[in-house]
Amino acid sequence: MAKERFSRIGFILAAAGAAVGLGNIWKFPYITGIYGGGAFVAVYLITVLLIGFSLLAGEMLVGYKGGKDAVSSFEIAAPEGKKGWKFAGFMLFSGLVIMTFYSVVIGWIFHYIYLAFTGALPTDIESAKATFDTLTSSAPLTATAWHLLSVLFVAFVLLRGIKGGIEKTNLILMPALMLILAGLTLYAMRFDGFTKALHFLFAPDWSKINSEAIVRAVGHAFFTLSIGIGTMVTYAASMSHKQSVFKAAFWVTLLDTLIALTAGVMLYSFIFQFGENPGQGPGLVFKTMPVVLAQLGTTGAVIGAVFFIALAFAGLTSAISLTEPAVEYFIQRFHWSRAKSVTINSTLYFIVGVGAILSYTKAYGDIFSIGSKPLFDALEFSTDSILLPLGGLAIALFVGYALPAKERDALVKHQAAPWLYRAWLFSLRYIAPLGILFMMLNNFGIIKV
Ligand code: TRP
Repeated sequence: MAKERFSRIGFILAAAGAAVGLGNIWKFPYITGIYGGGAFVAVYLITVLLIGFSLLAGEMLVGYKGGKDAVSSFEIAAPEGKKGWKFAGFMLFSGLVIMTFYSVVIGWIFHYIYLAFTGALPTDIESAKATFDTLTSSAPLTATAWHLLSVLFVAFVLLRGIKGGIEKTNLILMPALMLILAGLTLYAMRFDGFTKALHFLFAPDWSKINSEAIVRAVGHAFFTLSIGIGTMVTYAASMSHKQSVFKAAFWVTLLDTLIALTAGVMLYSFIFQFGENPGQGPGLVFKTMPVVLAQLGTTGAVIGAVFFIALAFAGLTSAISLTEPAVEYFIQRFHWSRAKSVTINSTLYFIVGVGAILSYTKAYGDIFSIGSKPLFDALEFSTDSILLPLGGLAIALFVGYALPAKERDALVKHQAAPWLYRAWLFSLRYIAPLGILFMMLNNFGIIKV
């Protein structure tokens, strides 16, 4: 049987579906809030432009060439004598680490969909805070049940393979998500808070930048573009060879960035309109959106349901892309059946996810923490700030140096304008490694800004 391949648009939508996720709508607004706005956003945007796009295209190139799971693809693409590069493919395990908290957040969203359908979304800011805090700090069973539902949903889709499921799902859900966000943004434009939001996000106050903010901004650029765990290697393994990796990477970068910025502007318009504090952390979307939607009158609950459903689907298409690299790896390297691979991988991140849930509770928080950080935060921090940049570094060095120039040029040189191709290589060889090194030195306190 011929290998199943994405259609052109199917690949772009699947890759964009992987990129556009909770990172854009849940995480980007809240970490921007914590680190003080414009300057943080600027560091993030510069990273996307100078490093993110190149690494995205680089990651796609490895899958385009290798045509298999991440480990095999690195192995196939590596020249003779350098097959040890296959170990770079082990970055795929970071996907499971991300899933341990990512699925928990999807679970929170499910809970809010349920609240919307039962007309129980909170309507004022005090009860909104209470609702979220109860869910995370004293209802671990509820949170675990929703987390399990998310695990099962992702497993269900993965069992059905990629093409029929993901391609179709993204084709419907991505435009729907964009329409909903556009609608909410148009609504938000009437507020005074809208101008404040633009100012908060786009007027950098460089005094607010410190080492930690830089590390988080660079890390977030990797996270939101889905770089550094082999998602794009695994997906690109099924892309058509008539398609350009540069064009695909361009569209994914553009969509992901636009959606993050739009969601940010929209949410902050509401937040400032109602005098809320941006630095609330992971609860930001959950505490502010219901209250805001309650202002929309009788249709508010319906719109609330639609908003959280859109958020859930954005999260689910990304969750699928986080788990698939590991699933594919065990199928291809260990000849596991898809069912076995899905079951074992899902069980693994489900269990650690329960630990992440408990780490936010009052009762068990002390047990499930690493140092002073709850397990949830430690997992999130370790992926963003350590694992993804390391994965990105491996890609930059592999495509920039290890891959023979002749082969690389033969594969993709004709796909890009000469200046772009040169800029891309320059980024992979110099900007990305130095940028990541700079970030790591900041991360470990060797450089302080
Ligand atoms: N980019 C997704 C988001 O913003 C999350 C994600 C999906 C991801 N696949 C990934 C992050 C691969 C890093 C690597 O929500």
